[in-house]
Amino acid sequence: MNKKTVKDVDVKGKKVLVRCDFNVPLKDGKITDNTRITAALPTIKYLMDNGAKVILCSHLGRPKGEVKEEFSLKPVAEELTDLLDTDVKFAADTTGDSAKSVTASLNDGDVALLENVRFDPREEKNDDTLAMELADLSDGIYVNDAFGTAHRAHSSTEGVAHHVDEAVAGFLMEKEITFLNGTLEHPKKPFVAVLGGAKVSDKIGVIENLLDKVDEILIGGGMAYTFLKAKGYEIGGSLCENDKIEEAKTIMNKAKEAGVKIVLPKDTVVAPVQEEVDDTLDKKAKQKAFFDFLEKSPDKVVDSDKIPEGWQGCDIGPRTSREFAEELKDAKTILWNGPLGICEINKFSRGTENAAESIAATKATSIVGGGDSVAAIKKLGLEDNFTHISTGGGASLELLEGKALPGLVCLSDK
Ligand code: 3PG
Repeated sequence: MNKKTVKDVDVKGKKVLVRCDFNVPLKDGKITDNTRITAALPTIKYLMDNGAKVILCSHLGRPKGEVKEEFSLKPVAEELTDLLDTDVKFAADTTGDSAKSVTASLNDGDVALLENVRFDPREEKNDDTLAMELADLSDGIYVNDAFGTAHRAHSSTEGVAHHVDEAVAGFLMEKEITFLNGTLEHPKKPFVAVLGGAKVSDKIGVIENLLDKVDEILIGGGMAYTFLKAKGYEIGGSLCENDKIEEAKTIMNKAKEAGVKIVLPKDTVVAPVQEEVDDTLDKKAKQKAFFDFLEKSPDKVVDSDKIPEGWQGCDIGPRTSREFAEELKDAKTILWNGPLGICEINKFSRGTENAAESIAATKATSIVGGGDSVAAIKKLGLEDNFTHISTGGGASLELLEGKALPGLVCLSDK
């Protein structure tokens, strides 16, 4: 990575503003997965050990510029207090009186966390006055360690960098970029990508960017059905982006020309299509009703080119899992992004879990991103068998598409 890091600046006795991605899942006010918090610890500990006055900031959820108690970062301050074994001071606002007095009271090695930066409507507009207010809390040093939010050009992820003397990367940012950019630019071959998730539209850019790097792409999840339909197969009532069928055909042709093998599911676990959908329900309630329906539905395995009318694909079948395992066996580099079935439902998570096990069994450099794939790895306790598990969803996808990340671009070059 050609960006300066925390190691390139003298932080002793200085107030250092650190943008983290503490956008963690919460249930009833309790953090249900602290991965993103533990991933930020190396940078925080380094700054503490080197005598900085550490000021942490982050967003949590999408409060849309309003103060909403359920999106408060207070539980994160408590979690950090436990993990760091030090009293992490919490400011009740982001750049107001509380933030000013809490940050002014810090001694060398102390840590403070500011309240959710998205409570301020200026944040997502990349407003310059907010960027300046954030910069003013520090002694001119800004560290961006929020890889998961690096694809957003907001005041705390991009704007602030223009108002400090030093804008550098944290260790998490450095690690993510090294794996996702570095390894994939010079992969050991064979290089196999496993792509899943609901929508082809989310992955088209990734596939196009990978075509001159990979040897094979294994496709599962909801996005597979658009490819299967593009091949002229019968996909029944499976998820399909009809306006992407032509693009799917173009991708398959480009892959053929580039000598990249695309492997689609040969068999599929199907369930009946949900006939009655209550349109009065909101998005969340509709999804719950869909999952409840699938939980109770019968299921069966069919050939992927003959999914019957009235049935929809919910997971890759066992034959496909075996074929994927075979294709992955001798890979030297593996990139995996996206679930291969509807993982929210236990009986449709087998394909994703099989993929996790198959990848874990290889000796390849394995890089994984995306919430559901990572959840499957954790459920099976296979974290240690993967080379790098990314903390970024959207950010890692944009990087894989070859896009520049504003939160990285704004940092000082080495
Ligand atoms: C994420 O969870 O992907 C990041 O924290 C970014 O969140 P956002 O999509 O709300 O910007």
